[in-house]
Amino acid sequence: MIFSKQFDKELLEHLGNVATMIRDIASTKDGYKFLISLLFHKRAMLYFTQASTRTFLSFMAALQILGISWSEIRDPSVSSEYKGESPLDSMRMFSSYCDIIIMRSKIPDFAECCAYLMNDLDDFNQRNVPIINGGAGADEHPTQALLDIYTIQREFAFVSKKDSSKWTLFDELRKKYPGLKRGLDGKVYGFCGDVGRGRTVRSLTNLLSQYDDMTFYFVSPDHPKLKLPANFKNELLDQGVDVKEYDDLNEIVDKVDMLYMTRIQHEHDSAEDKEFFKKLDYSKYYLSKDKVERMKDYAAILHPFPRDTRAKEIPAEIDNDPRAKYFAQARNGIWIRAALIAYLFDADGKIASHYQKHFSDYHDYNVEVL
Ligand code: NCD
Repeated sequence: MIFSKQFDKELLEHLGNVATMIRDIASTKDGYKFLISLLFHKRAMLYFTQASTRTFLSFMAALQILGISWSEIRDPSVSSEYKGESPLDSMRMFSSYCDIIIMRSKIPDFAECCAYLMNDLDDFNQRNVPIINGGAGADEHPTQALLDIYTIQREFAFVSKKDSSKWTLFDELRKKYPGLKRGLDGKVYGFCGDVGRGRTVRSLTNLLSQYDDMTFYFVSPDHPKLKLPANFKNELLDQGVDVKEYDDLNEIVDKVDMLYMTRIQHEHDSAEDKEFFKKLDYSKYYLSKDKVERMKDYAAILHPFPRDTRAKEIPAEIDNDPRAKYFAQARNGIWIRAALIAYLFDADGKIASHYQKHFSDYHDYNVEVL
């Protein structure tokens, strides 16, 4: 599982449903017992040699929920790579000790190389295991895109715990926004910040561009490394997405249905870039209470996190606004990663049967059935 493009709409809806079933099942003690019995005979390796908090911990939580035990390597200097072992040899060793490898590396193609190594081993009838890419260089972060999509599926279902036979959130919203429809199609998505160097934006837009009637607004400083790369823009246009670029968040804030904020990835700056940033008016790419007040009532504010608290692209005073979804988004990572692992090990069918037996109201993010 290396690229976001490996997921089609049908699979995204399926994984979203499995994630919600796992979430509901895990909320009871008996349900949790069922989940941890599913894959207790499997072992995982978490090989994270690039900084990570949320991806690492939420994968670990997902493994715990499915009863999978794990080993971890976070610092290659304490592994045999220090003695000159090649990372590919290490990877083959891991595949003999565990049943799945979840990895993050600063080398963009490394997860892909490992997946090809596993394919070659398969051709030679040698032991091999699935690889999940937990973030590859500046390239791809497909499981972040999964949790982003899952968050948007949940938000754009417009379902509330307060829904009753007399009042629903959706009907209430439709009074003010009569054209509002459920689901991801036909919405306006804003992406703001470092859209050139952030891997999460690339992976998420790859997935979103599969939906119909999509509009993407990109807001970034006018710098060749930070703005939308031309080849990436052309790909989106080829997919039929309506793409527009802006230099100030103010221009789009009242138009978007979802706003995906990102931090400026200063760790990739060259000396020249640092000069550029000295003169930059950052306020054009940052949220403020005033800007949030101009957003649609139902618009969702997402951020892959970490946010840069020195820079304040999202000031903490916004955190309790009902539109701020970034903490819920991070938590969604547990359930969707558990759903992905269950799917890879073919345990999703058992989860669905258990769910149908024990929970009456079946969730489906497929808009046709909503
Ligand atoms: C992101 C990443 O690592 O690409 N973080 C994450 O996994 N949620 C975003 C970032 O570092 O800016």
